[in-house]
Amino acid sequence: MASISNPAKTSGSPAALPSDELARRIAELGEWFHNLDLHGVQTAPKHFLGDFPNIKWKHIQEAIPEDLTGATVLDIGCNGGFYSIQMKQRGAKHVLGIDIDDRYLEQARFAAETLGVEIEFQKLSVYGIDEIAGEFDYVFFMGVFYHLRYPLYALDRVIKKIRGKLVFQTMIRGSEDVEQWRENYSFWETKMFSDPSFPAMYFIEKSYSNDRTNWWIPNRAAVEGMLRSSGLEIVAHPESETWVCLPGPVKRDGIFIVDRELNGTF
Ligand SMILES: C[S@@+](CC[C@H](N)C(=O)[O-])C[C@H]1O[C@@H](n2cnc3c(N)ncnc32)[C@H](O)[C@@H]1O
Repeated sequence: MASISNPAKTSGSPAALPSDELARRIAELGEWFHNLDLHGVQTAPKHFLGDFPNIKWKHIQEAIPEDLTGATVLDIGCNGGFYSIQMKQRGAKHVLGIDIDDRYLEQARFAAETLGVEIEFQKLSVYGIDEIAGEFDYVFFMGVFYHLRYPLYALDRVIKKIRGKLVFQTMIRGSEDVEQWRENYSFWETKMFSDPSFPAMYFIEKSYSNDRTNWWIPNRAAVEGMLRSSGLEIVAHPESETWVCLPGPVKRDGIFIVDRELNGTF
C-alpha cells in the first residue's frame, strides 16, 4: 500500500443531515461537475452532459471487479470524488484522490463524509505524482489528459504508479476508426497525414467548450497509440472514451521512459 504524506482524511461517519440542510451545504460548495446522489439530494442535476459521470460509469463498471477488498486506488483529477467513492464502496482498502482544485477537493471531502466512506483527498497535480510513495492496484486517470499542456509527460509519470490496472479516459474528437499502420514510412510518404484515421491530436490554441484548459484532443488512434507507446497493454475499451490497461514494458533497459527522455538517453 502507498504511504502518503500530509494526509487529509474524511471522518468515515455518515452525517445525518436533513435534505434541506444537505441541499444548502451542497450549494455552498459551489458548482459541481460530478452529479452525486447524497442521500437523495443531487449535486449537479442540471449537468450539461446529463447524469454525469453515471452515464459513463454504467458502461465502465463491469470492467472492474465488484469486490475490491484489499485493493489500493489512486484517482487522479478526482473532482467531486465520484470514482473514488465508487471504488471505496466496492471495498477498496485505501483510496487516494488527488486534484489541483480546492473547490473540487472540498466537494469530494464533503461527499465522502456524507456517505460515510473513508477516503484520502490531497491537493496535488498529476505532474507531482512522484511525491506519492508506492504503486496502486487501480489508477484512475479520467478526464484529465486533454486538460494538460504536457499530456504524454503526465501519462509517462502515471505509469510509475500502476501495479494493477489503469482506467484511462479522455475526450476524443475526429475519427474513431482503427487501422493497422506500418512500422515505418519514408520521408517522402505523406499521404497518411491526410487520412482522418491516422493518429492525431488537435491542438486548441484558444478555447474549446468555453474551457481554455482543453489543450490537446486526440482521435481514437492517437489515444491507443500513446497508451501502447507508454508501455501499456489495452485490455478493455468499455465505452468510446475509456480504456482499461495493464502495465507492460514501461521501462527501457530498466529505466522509465519519462526518465530516459528527461535525461536525454532515449
Ligand atoms: C473534466 S474533470 C474530470 C473529473 C473526473 N476525473 C471525471 O472523469 O469525471 C478534470 C479534473 O482534473 C483536474 N485537473 C486538471 N489538471 C490537473 C492536474 N494537473 N493534476 C490533477 N488534476 C487536474 C481538474 O481540477 C478537474 O477536477
